Amino acid sequence: MVPTTRRPPGGHEAEDIASAKERGWRDLVPIDDAYQVGEITGTEWHAAVLNVIEPAYLNGGNPRAQSGHSGDETRWREARGLLVDLLPPHGGTFLDVGCANGHLMESLTDWAAEAGTVIEPYGVEISAALADLPRTRCPQWAHRIWTANAMGWKPPRRFDAVRTGLDYVPADLCGAYVAHLLNQVVAPSGRLIIGVYNEERDQNTVQDLLRSFGHRPAGFTTADHRHPEIQYKALWLTSS
Ligand SMILES: C[S@@+](CC[C@H](N)C(=O)[O-])C[C@H]1O[C@@H](n2cnc3c(N)ncnc32)[C@H](O)[C@@H]1O
Repeated sequence: MVPTTRRPPGGHEAEDIASAKERGWRDLVPIDDAYQVGEITGTEWHAAVLNVIEPAYLNGGNPRAQSGHSGDETRWREARGLLVDLLPPHGGTFLDVGCANGHLMESLTDWAAEAGTVIEPYGVEISAALADLPRTRCPQWAHRIWTANAMGWKPPRRFDAVRTGLDYVPADLCGAYVAHLLNQVVAPSGRLIIGVYNEERDQNTVQDLLRSFGHRPAGFTTADHRHPEIQYKALWLTSS
């Protein structure tokens, strides 16, 4: 069985941790299961995941909810601000894979500037309906937003830093997805940032998975989560 970080090990406490790790995991586990036993194809997997998240994001009542985050501004920064630690010190171009409504593009640009780093944000989003949101919300960046499945996407340019989640493809395609982003999307000597993901403080499931594909993280950062056993985590891989 291909490792997936979605499934809780069992019991109520484990479910509590699982739901703290990933909002909506209950809806997504059956989709992973259907894919794993061959009931649905990869294309159907993407469509089923979008069926769950697209209406939820489109109906979100604030910019964070339209990016899949349920907290207020303070929690948003706690949950995403750590990404600043992983940006190249000289800044440069930053591609948010799965940019949703573009709120992370906006926030990270501001937070990086506070830390003295200038980034130029870009986004790619698999959902055409969601990709229209940043084009409207941030018209100055409209030409920098693409609608595409990042798996297999050949961008018109490469980026100094590219951020993604590993759950943007079915689990058995994860290694190929990371290789594709490193080889086709990240600039030479650029950074592939994985995260933010929520993981038990004392576990390294994501790092172990990446090592099993032959990737050793070049840098790592964490921040406290409101659940004491969980941490927000992110890491980066180098393209060379
Ligand atoms: C949780 S939101 C992330 C929003 C924001 N980037 C952040 O990190 O807070 C994940 C987004 O990734 C998009 N997505 C998922 N799989 C994708 C893929 N293979 N290619 C492009 N976008 C994808 C989803 O449609 C969704 O809008």
